[in-house]
Amino acid sequence: MILIIDFGSQYNQLIARRVRENKVFCQVEPPGISLEQITALAPKGIILSGGPASIYAKNSPKCDEGIFGLGIPVLGICYGMQYAVHVLGGKVEGAKKREYGPAELEIIEQGGLFKGVEQKTPCWMSHGDTTVSLPPGFSVTAHTANTAFAAMENRQRRIFGFQFHPEVTHTPRGAVMLKNFLFDICACEKNWTMQNFVKQETAKIREQAGNSNVILGLSGGVDSSVAAVLIHRAIGSQLKPIFVDNGLLREGEAKRLKEVFKEHLGMPVLFVSAKRRFLSELAGVEDPEKKRKIIGRVFMEVFEAQALKIKGAKFLAQGTLYPDIIESVSAFGGPSAVIKSHHNVGGLPKKMRLKLIEPLKYLFKDEVRKLGEQLGLPQDMVWRQPFPGPGLAIRILGPVSEKRLKILRQVDAVIQEEIRKAGLYKKLWQAFPVLLPIKSVGIMGDERTYENIVALRAVTSTDAMTADWARLPHELLATISNRVINEIRGVNRMVYDISSKPPSTIEWE
Ligand code: XMP
Repeated sequence: MILIIDFGSQYNQLIARRVRENKVFCQVEPPGISLEQITALAPKGIILSGGPASIYAKNSPKCDEGIFGLGIPVLGICYGMQYAVHVLGGKVEGAKKREYGPAELEIIEQGGLFKGVEQKTPCWMSHGDTTVSLPPGFSVTAHTANTAFAAMENRQRRIFGFQFHPEVTHTPRGAVMLKNFLFDICACEKNWTMQNFVKQETAKIREQAGNSNVILGLSGGVDSSVAAVLIHRAIGSQLKPIFVDNGLLREGEAKRLKEVFKEHLGMPVLFVSAKRRFLSELAGVEDPEKKRKIIGRVFMEVFEAQALKIKGAKFLAQGTLYPDIIESVSAFGGPSAVIKSHHNVGGLPKKMRLKLIEPLKYLFKDEVRKLGEQLGLPQDMVWRQPFPGPGLAIRILGPVSEKRLKILRQVDAVIQEEIRKAGLYKKLWQAFPVLLPIKSVGIMGDERTYENIVALRAVTSTDAMTADWARLPHELLATISNRVINEIRGVNRMVYDISSKPPSTIEWE
């Protein structure tokens, strides 16, 4: 494995991605990781990430300097390189102005990490401080017009530094450089495959669970579904998945879940129908945050009541993903690992003192999808667009009622169908309708109508932190609006949401 020490760069997850694309496992750890912990992980190489701090800032992140004496190859990127320079006896200085953007890298010393890379190649710079003299034993291997020490190495000690970012696509040959580090320098093996992951992880789950039962809240989303199938493969019927039908799901969703888990995967799921309870607690509630709180609380109460009936349960499994865990704080103040509670599940049942099993916690979303495919989950479940925990309740502006849920479900079904037909389902982050709390006048046949307005929301995004409204083809918009207004009673107008995030959000509530 490769250890990545997180100095807080916004590109950290990208470094991890690049390593894993080469079928090499890697783990991102905070700078506070001890030498003993590092030795126990036995990494074949260490990558020091970039970060927003200046090495001279009071609280700048630092790792144990002993890493340079372990005999393990080290690659420092941006701040990571400056840290290496500083610790090993070179000099870093605050540059007069930040260098940000593309630059041409001129390679002085070919071979090593630059094996197979042209002598001149574009690279991406993003730094304030800069190296002004190298530590003893190091030589400069590349420069740019503004940066004399754009890359350095001590090949004998196998310590390398890049001032630029090899992990971003703006450094087109960065992938080759990282590959050289992984295979030529660290002698990594390409053994990080989904098959191996399943083998290792099921063994781990078996050991962790022993003879105890494991409870899991199944939501129908990708993460909890994949976690369920993986754990089921490890411990079979010791896994007790619970699905709470809150009545706020899309058309046919609960039925499909039953079909897939019971029939296709042969996994018994405890289905709890709590639709009435949710709807009566939500009656008349308009405020979005109140809706969320009610749904979270009722879910927990229903889930806990069911979980308490399961004998010998010692664990709660969750589909937490890697990005939830390694969110680093990009603002000054350095990196820190923030653990988000899995907001779809809403926390641990408090009465039960359960321990957590989180078998996906080192995976990225696309890896989870690959894993789902490997485990035999059907395509429609593996590639499902994200769906919020509070469900359709936050897509009905104003109070939620059975009648309004019915309208929204019908509209949603048309949108899903047409988006899929147009081959756009996977390209869009999300596409869904929002039912507005106002009515408008229309004309149907010879009759005046006074009915609901539905907004169509479709966005592209990579992580939901930012999103752009999707430029859907006009013809597709026309088909959707014609079908919705003609086929669904209670809707006489459709509008398209052309706002991006920020300043708007993806959901309307
Ligand atoms: P916003 O609306 O904040 O949404 O731009 C970003 C992403 O998060 C989803 N979302 C939620 N997911 N519980 C969830 O599990 C929630 O309360 C919630 N609110 C928003 C939203 O669908 C989008 O993908």
